[in-house]
Amino acid sequence: MRRKVIAGNWKMNHNPVETREFFEVFKGLVKDSENEIILCVPYIDVAAALEATAGTNIKIGTQNLNHEESGALTGDISCKMLQDIGIQYTIVGHSERRQYHNETDEFVNLKMKAAFAHDIIPILCVGETLKEREAGIAKYKILTQIVLDFDGLTAEQAKNVVIAYEPIWAIGTGKTATAEDANEVCQWIRDEIKTLYGAEVAEEIIIQYGGSVKASNAKELFEMSDIDGGLVGGASLKPDEFAKIVNWR
Ligand code: 13P
Repeated sequence: MRRKVIAGNWKMNHNPVETREFFEVFKGLVKDSENEIILCVPYIDVAAALEATAGTNIKIGTQNLNHEESGALTGDISCKMLQDIGIQYTIVGHSERRQYHNETDEFVNLKMKAAFAHDIIPILCVGETLKEREAGIAKYKILTQIVLDFDGLTAEQAKNVVIAYEPIWAIGTGKTATAEDANEVCQWIRDEIKTLYGAEVAEEIIIQYGGSVKASNAKELFEMSDIDGGLVGGASLKPDEFAKIVNWR
């Protein structure tokens, strides 16, 4: 059976002091969890988060990386810098970066490859806008993202990607896809992975749901057959709320 992976995405929230305060409370609340727990924090909080979670069952990730190892790229943080400080996960292709930073699938693909080349697991976000859903092209959009973002990855690498299905209309809106709807898309994504990489990869790959996940809806979502956990935004900012999501069963 696949493990459940619950990841938090703090987005542009919390400073290092708030980060230490968060983990002081959070680590005790989730210490007995059998689920994999990841917190993707802002770069400015990474050092505090790594220090606060050393020796615990909590992993620290980032929300982005630059695919170049070094260079004249003002303001960016490279895949090698993250590897050097022991980062194991990074979000790649979040819809907010695609939308506000014009990140294309070709660019996302470079980040996927750079992550693997530096022993970092990418949490790849895919998902449709409300307009695309209503136009009946949600699956077309997601398939395009998957084909282009996975381009050139080996089966071994593909198996280790964490896919986060995040319908854009459900992010930060309080509107959650129904558990059945979310599961149907996650199941369909798994079928497409099977077509691209075969049954073994499809069976093992982790597919999360993201978009207004909260303590009150986590159980019904995570109990579904093809939803292997969640990528949680707003509800991951408070230790008690996020702990309830992690401890959903
Ligand atoms: P919310 O949980 O705040 O809707 O955000 C979801 C998300 O974008 C996680 O990456």
